[in-house]
Amino acid sequence: MTFSETFVWGAATASYQIEGAAREDGKGLSVWDMFCQKALTIWNNQSGDIACDHYHRYKEDVSLMKQIGLNAYRLSVSWPRVIPEGTGALNPKGVEFYDKLIDELLAVGISPYITLFHWDYPYELYGRGGWLNKDSPDWFAEYATVVVDKLSDRVKHWITFNEPQVFIDVGHRSGYHAPGDKLEFAQVLTAAHNVLLAHGKAVQVIRAHSRVESQAGLALAGIVRIPATESPEDVEAARQSMFSVRARNCWSNTWWAEPVFFGRYPEDGLALFGDDVPAIGDRDMKTICQPLDFFAVNIYSGSMTRAGKDGQPERVSFPVGQAMTTFQTPVRPEALYWGPRFFWERYNLPIIITENGMSNVDWVSLDGKVHDPQRIDYLNRYLLELKKAYKDDVQVLGYFQWSIMDNFEWREGYKERFGLIYVDFPTQKRILKDSAYWYKEVIASNGANLDKL
Ligand code: BGC
Repeated sequence: MTFSETFVWGAATASYQIEGAAREDGKGLSVWDMFCQKALTIWNNQSGDIACDHYHRYKEDVSLMKQIGLNAYRLSVSWPRVIPEGTGALNPKGVEFYDKLIDELLAVGISPYITLFHWDYPYELYGRGGWLNKDSPDWFAEYATVVVDKLSDRVKHWITFNEPQVFIDVGHRSGYHAPGDKLEFAQVLTAAHNVLLAHGKAVQVIRAHSRVESQAGLALAGIVRIPATESPEDVEAARQSMFSVRARNCWSNTWWAEPVFFGRYPEDGLALFGDDVPAIGDRDMKTICQPLDFFAVNIYSGSMTRAGKDGQPERVSFPVGQAMTTFQTPVRPEALYWGPRFFWERYNLPIIITENGMSNVDWVSLDGKVHDPQRIDYLNRYLLELKKAYKDDVQVLGYFQWSIMDNFEWREGYKERFGLIYVDFPTQKRILKDSAYWYKEVIASNGANLDKL
């Protein structure tokens, strides 16, 4: 059994993680450019200054994507590369870069999926209050207008934000990511609310300005609960846990998804957050709750849940010796069954897996190749679970592996390698890993070869 004829096989990246050319051709600085300059912040004091030098090597990279046979490529646009100060004057060279990249992709039959924001926020705007400023949703809408006006004659698929949970909660509450703030919780919720408004406004822009029929979505970090057994009680407990707000942070599915899809914040979150919830304008939820075309979600793992004695969800520890990636992410392939299924059942929109993959101990072997059997096994296991969801009538439109190439892994610098393509950073030489050849066959057989083992 294969996926549908129209199933999209892709891979993903993000601007700051691959482009480099951080201070070139008129690009403005982002919060990540500044954050990386703080000593002892990033592993080995590394930064995305050069990264994969994709800004200069995009033609070679696209030809490698073609070699692998990708149907689609998910990239993000760097806001400060396009509008150096965040609002106002455009940077023609920045716009030109994306223009050419899109043409290059389309010339070899790869559909671009654009994420408007994957964390590299303009530093100038951060200086003006960033996501706390009440004008921040309009700044984002202005930027979205520029990109959509320029690229929507050729680009059909748009994702407004990547993982708001991460850049708001990890960037503004725990301070572990850029901009490195540790705000009061009420302020974190204000920033989150402005991001939701920015999402809604950007979708309005996409609908109003697209020159071809557009498809729009928002990519959440999928927080997945896996039922400990398939008993109806455990399944229900996992579902309940996945769709609840249980802690005073922004690390949940529903604080983000319910306003976007249902036009309201979840009751349990409102009760838990109390007075910290910002004032919500009369028309805010109308702006936030724009119809979307798909439910985009990044899924890497999941935790186990069962029904406790009182029927309430209870976390189950992983077994001793649980398989882990080098980034210490538990390998739990069932996350790619239960995640899509629960999201599909609740939000009733076709699912796109916008990220899934693993970091591994990859190096160049004596034979000059990069052998990564763990990654092949990981992807095979996860994709089999996705296939199972598909067989169980969960509508899944596509799958994007993270990442097409090794890149700058945020706080971890270049320590974690997620790519299908190995990058030797000192020389910028690219080598297709074994997993790239394997993925090529998955794509060519439309998933039929996943059952081979
Ligand atoms: C992010 C990527 C990141 C990946 C692996 C996701 O949370 O969207 O930018 O590289 O996970 O950690």
